[in-house]
Amino acid sequence: MCKCSRDVVEKVVKDLIRNFDKIREQKIIMPNKRKLNFIDLFSGAGGLSYGLEKAGLNCLIGIDFLEPAIETFKHNHPNSIGICGDLKEISPADVQKMIGRKKVDLICGGPPCQGFSTIGPGNANDDRNHLFYEFLKFVEFFKPNHIMIENVTGLVARKNENTLLSIFDCFQKLGYELDIRVLTASHYGVPEARRRVIILGNNKGKENFYPEKIFANYGEENSKLKPVRTVGWAFENLMEYRKKIHNHDIEAAFIKSNLEQARINAVPEGKAIRYERDEKAYLPEELWFDHDWNTMSEKRFREAKFARLDRAKPSPTIVTNAKMYYHPTDNRYLTAREAAALQSFPAKFVFKGSLSKQWTQIGNAVPPIMAEELGKAVLKSHASRKKKKADKGPLDFEQIRSYAFKYDKDTFDNTAPKQQELKV
Ligand SMILES: C[S@@+](CC[C@H](N)C(=O)[O-])C[C@H]1O[C@@H](n2cnc3c(N)ncnc32)[C@H](O)[C@@H]1O
Repeated sequence: MCKCSRDVVEKVVKDLIRNFDKIREQKIIMPNKRKLNFIDLFSGAGGLSYGLEKAGLNCLIGIDFLEPAIETFKHNHPNSIGICGDLKEISPADVQKMIGRKKVDLICGGPPCQGFSTIGPGNANDDRNHLFYEFLKFVEFFKPNHIMIENVTGLVARKNENTLLSIFDCFQKLGYELDIRVLTASHYGVPEARRRVIILGNNKGKENFYPEKIFANYGEENSKLKPVRTVGWAFENLMEYRKKIHNHDIEAAFIKSNLEQARINAVPEGKAIRYERDEKAYLPEELWFDHDWNTMSEKRFREAKFARLDRAKPSPTIVTNAKMYYHPTDNRYLTAREAAALQSFPAKFVFKGSLSKQWTQIGNAVPPIMAEELGKAVLKSHASRKKKKADKGPLDFEQIRSYAFKYDKDTFDNTAPKQQELKV
């Protein structure tokens, strides 16, 4: 063969290999047909599992000690095992028996991590240490290719720096390459401004891909991004399934106190009362609060009160408290279904247990639409041959923190951490 044609053949082969890698990363061809299996520790109702399954992964088992949460999990994950039990008392070997010889490709969950660093993994008897250690034990036993940890942004606060370093250290000793990011749920199509810390890791030395931003911020003009989803969108699209609305007890969302009724009646859509100027702007004098604003710390309520959602914006972070936010137009709180819709649960996802336990499950959950994007990102890492670049140094805490705790001025997100507490 002449040199010229050999060059051409080499180029064609190189192009083919490059394209094949690209196609694999885009999941057009999977390395094999088997779905990746995962175990969800601290599964709650299963918001995370639900989204991961939507992305194409297979949930083998979810474990949580809250009975109604596992009832919910089982109802909505009919092909997975749901175990109600304390993870301090369930060993990985027990779980192995339940799932048989199936390969575990991913272990995910949201173990409480705070306090871990101060005690270290050796002291498994300390309560604060236990739960993260349980997670680690499962990873050590099953050696999944991928891990995913979800946590509140407080994990990256200055006071938890050593905790994070210890977490990285423990997983690195087990052969995992870890990355950490703070993600905003609304960037993936969740109608909620929730932010969460997501740690991804793998033991194949590969790059950990994170989902790309697909939806714009509220008010952001960017033709490459889809417009942000809003409270109005959620209420129009995620409430009704086959002419039925589950978990939608409007009477339970009524306000009992006349004074509270009168005050919320006066607060316009999208507004809340936190400062004296809000009180003066929205409430008639007879409904003003009976206190001296000047004697209050920072001359404001610690948390915004009478926060009425705005149909034109994404909702602030849904929490476990049913009385945190008010309906955009009605003088009442939200129903559990409305909160679930804002967390991007589909209308057919039914929550079990008492109303307060439904709120616990909803407020604690990873929004399924965000979880789906995380699942796609794990599949991408799995299919990719891209090696992780060597870290340029220790974790850049300042950079992570600056994003985690920067909130728009006008947000009344009650879960935004207090500035003085975080020293940012
Ligand atoms: C943040 S929530 C998980 C939410 C879940 N990932 C989702 O997307 O729906 C944490 C869960 O850990 C559970 N939990 C806390 N301590 C536990 C323990 N010792 N054993 C089992 N579950 C526990 C709680 O009941 C709670 O449901």
